[in-house]
Amino acid sequence: MKTPSVRVVTNPKELELCLDIRIRVFCHEQGVSRDIELDGLDGVCRHYVAFQEADAVGTARARPIDDKTIKFERVAVLKELRGRDFGKSLMKLAISDATENGYRKAILNAQTHAEPFYQSLGFSQQGERFEEAGIPHIQMIRML
Ligand code: COA
Repeated sequence: MKTPSVRVVTNPKELELCLDIRIRVFCHEQGVSRDIELDGLDGVCRHYVAFQEADAVGTARARPIDDKTIKFERVAVLKELRGRDFGKSLMKLAISDATENGYRKAILNAQTHAEPFYQSLGFSQQGERFEEAGIPHIQMIRML
């Protein structure tokens, strides 16, 4: 299988591709409202995109919480392309990028079905389960 191509988003056109993937995955597939999905915080985030050939197929964003803590959010791969390492490659890039930028700790709110996915990337469960946008979640943490 070809290694997924992933990179940091550097222009508005690529960000649009990321937002389109998020709308398809979180709003159309999972039923999250657009208002919750497009939360006004994208401007303070660093974004990542995965490509298969010329097509954007996955995305994630990293939101600074404080000088040392980064929060990974909006991790999504188009349904028909899951299980082909795009998600893992995106998260590995996000982790190495955050580490290079001086962050010491990464947190995220995982949908409970994705807990094993994040565990395989070195995250551990922290705290109780809770609901966000009507979906069960668990907070996870990883030192960088
Ligand atoms: N449950 C259990 N294991 C999972 C999993 C899931 N939902 N999704 C992926 N994995 C495992 C894979 O089996 C693989 O394991 P391996 O390395 O031992 O083979 C590993 O995690 C990496 O899988 P990968 O192919 O890189 O994941 P993906 O490209 O399918 O992306 C998600 C994973 C979660 C991003 C994708 O399923 C998705 O977009 N889901 C819908 C949106 C969502 O729920 N996002 C998470 C919000 S917290």
